[in-house]
Amino acid sequence: MDPVKIVEGVYWVGALDFNVRNFHGYSYSTHHGTTYNAYLVVGEKVALVDAVNGSFSEEMFERISKVIDLSKIDYMISNHAEMDHSSTVPEVLKRVPNAKLVCTEKAVDVLKKHYPDGWDIQTVKTGDELDLGGKTLRFYEAPMLHWPESMFTYYIEEELLMPNDAFGQHYATEKRFADEVDQNVLWREAEKYYANILWPLSRMVQRKIEEVVELGLPIKIIAPSHGLIFRKDPLQIVTRYLEWAKGERISDKVVITWDTMWESTTKIARALAEGINDEGLTPLLRLIPHNDRSDIMADLLEAKGILVGSPTLHNEFLPTVAPIVSDLETLKPVGKKAAAFGSIGWRGGAAEKIQEYMKRGKMDVIMEPFTVAWVPTKEELEKAREYGREFARKVK
Ligand code: FEO
Repeated sequence: MDPVKIVEGVYWVGALDFNVRNFHGYSYSTHHGTTYNAYLVVGEKVALVDAVNGSFSEEMFERISKVIDLSKIDYMISNHAEMDHSSTVPEVLKRVPNAKLVCTEKAVDVLKKHYPDGWDIQTVKTGDELDLGGKTLRFYEAPMLHWPESMFTYYIEEELLMPNDAFGQHYATEKRFADEVDQNVLWREAEKYYANILWPLSRMVQRKIEEVVELGLPIKIIAPSHGLIFRKDPLQIVTRYLEWAKGERISDKVVITWDTMWESTTKIARALAEGINDEGLTPLLRLIPHNDRSDIMADLLEAKGILVGSPTLHNEFLPTVAPIVSDLETLKPVGKKAAAFGSIGWRGGAAEKIQEYMKRGKMDVIMEPFTVAWVPTKEELEKAREYGREFARKVK
């Protein structure tokens, strides 16, 4: 694949990874693969903004060499030290020893810990500019979007923002621009990305976006480090981030997710769904073995609330439910309405423990757990349905 011209003098020279199916240690399923976006800014001087994941280095170098001779790179700009963007930085600096590495002060130690030292490093902070001769790059520190050392690079003359991981999606396609692809896939992947990477950082996301808005920074194009580039109505993704961060973009859906041992918890889940449906909301039924954790968190992002179910095993929830419960604690869907349910045997405890995790994730647990001993009777299923109706009334 050739490099892709984004604007005059800026080329996408990244890599397409159609085959990757997991990210961040199997915590994130990437059904549509991903891209590692690197951008070459060519003025009188040349800057490479971010690099690609290690095994894709040759792909990146081949694209760069179709634009310029590699030796002409003057600056290697590292917006973010995580290895999917930085693991080819050492190879760039090895092949172009005179190039200077540009990053935030906080990134220096991280990069040195990952890779051998000895580079010529220029640290930058918010407002610093780099004159490439006719093209100017300005830097904005963006701590916790999504690491403490993260920064955005802004190409002033073309009003092009390269915010690294912020506003990304794990979506590999031959197309490079967001307006060229299936919008349902695009926005689903953007939601999933926010839910699984940025949700716990929502306060910082909100603050950073408001800060950029206050600066009145004109933005024509947003070119993130994963997925598609936003060139038509680029602020749409910024607006969605703000709405997700504030919990203001909410659909009529309620997520019901559970696992079951002898189908009793499944019967309860279905009765809860009927009750939610009775009240005019839309239940999303997600049996855990068939739906992975990161998809369920994406479902939850715009949902009104969530019901999580498990039978009790050894006084605990089932091991298969543990990843979801862990995500509810660590991704911190603050204020999202929640409750737990399940069947119990000689002893209970699973639903109560699930609710403890929900509370640790600052969720709004609005009802006592719903539990049934052994197999639910017809009357108990009617109670479950009423529980679903009440949950729906409370979240409306
Ligand atoms: Fe935080 Fe795409 O790496």
